[in-house]
Amino acid sequence: MSEKIYGLDIGTNSIKIHQKGTGVVVHQKNMIAMVKKNEPLALGDEAYSMYEKAPKNISVRKPMVNGVIADFTAMQIMIQLYFRGSRGKNAIEGLNANGNSEFYIAVPTDITDVEKRAFFDLIASSSLKTRKIFLVDKPIADALGAGLDVMDSTGRLIVNIGADTTEISLISLGGIVQSRLLKIGGSRFDEAIQQAVKKKHNLVIGMKSAERLKMQLASGIREEEEKTHDVMGRNLITGLPNRVTVTNHLIFDAMSESMSSIIDAIKFILEKTPPELSMDIMHDGICMTGGSTRINNLDLLIQQETGLSIMKVEEPELSVVKGLGMIMDNPEYARLAGTLQESSFH
Ligand SMILES: Nc1ncnc2c1ncn2[C@@H]1O[C@H](COP(=O)(O)OP(=O)(O)OP(=O)(O)O)[C@@H](O)[C@H]1O
Ligand SMILES: [Mg+2]
Repeated sequence: MSEKIYGLDIGTNSIKIHQKGTGVVVHQKNMIAMVKKNEPLALGDEAYSMYEKAPKNISVRKPMVNGVIADFTAMQIMIQLYFRGSRGKNAIEGLNANGNSEFYIAVPTDITDVEKRAFFDLIASSSLKTRKIFLVDKPIADALGAGLDVMDSTGRLIVNIGADTTEISLISLGGIVQSRLLKIGGSRFDEAIQQAVKKKHNLVIGMKSAERLKMQLASGIREEEEKTHDVMGRNLITGLPNRVTVTNHLIFDAMSESMSSIIDAIKFILEKTPPELSMDIMHDGICMTGGSTRINNLDLLIQQETGLSIMKVEEPELSVVKGLGMIMDNPEYARLAGTLQESSFH
């Protein structure tokens, strides 16, 4: 039976909601289109379809930036809409909060207390009725969802490469030994691709086109064989729409600086890992999650650079929200979820 207990992974690129007894019920772009001051017009994937296309009176907003809530009002309006719907229009079937509802929210570790508290306030100060709000360290939920045993004393290294962020975390005994949140992820790759296409081909392309090029051509390792993909944009010189053919080599070069930064940060954490935990990581390797780990050969790059084996998961963008589901289902994991009072930030 479905209960009104929900797990929320509020990512920069997409929001994921798990409902106890049902599974993942929402996986939508984390965007909202508004008219006038704060009047919602569309949300999620529908808002994304308006992104880079909307006239001036419609603002399409991304409420999350670098893994934290940048536009609190917009984010709260969105959450409220997911749970109750706006004039019946955007209601997601079966999603509504009542006085017995519980919310489990995944929160990045390496952010300020004020930023963490905002995740709690998002629900607490909303119009949704709740019985309890739990905060869960995102890397712990992530590791559980990826199938790792987080409760024992074995050290685990988990790297989540998402849209705006890369979160590198060392876990042991159900807690975070250390965690670092880098402001680098899939969107940074898209921006780099946008710049490279502009420089090489004098072509201005949108973020969606840049992301498509990445999905078609990106690789963690430079490929010998040339692959190409066509992209449409606006020629910088003539101002007219134009089509060019982009190679995988251009994409690789564009992304290499950001990929190196990720590798450097992983090495930095490895250098700071206590020796007993290092031994565990030598043995088990690194677990990779987050949508950007779908990039071909990115695992090979990290393996070559660190000398460690890599474990990939099947639906890498969903491991955090699946982990939240496991925490709400399993009393053994109860201590992994804290209330605001129990947490260090209040
Ligand atoms: N096949 C693919 N190849 C390359 N990148 C991909 C692929 N599929 C998804 N991505 C990228 O994964 C990212 C989204 O991943 P994810 O859902 O884990 O991010 P998020 O949780 O919303 O962001 P964050 O955790 O940084 O706040 C996007 O940047 C997207 O372009
Ligand atoms: Mg994420």
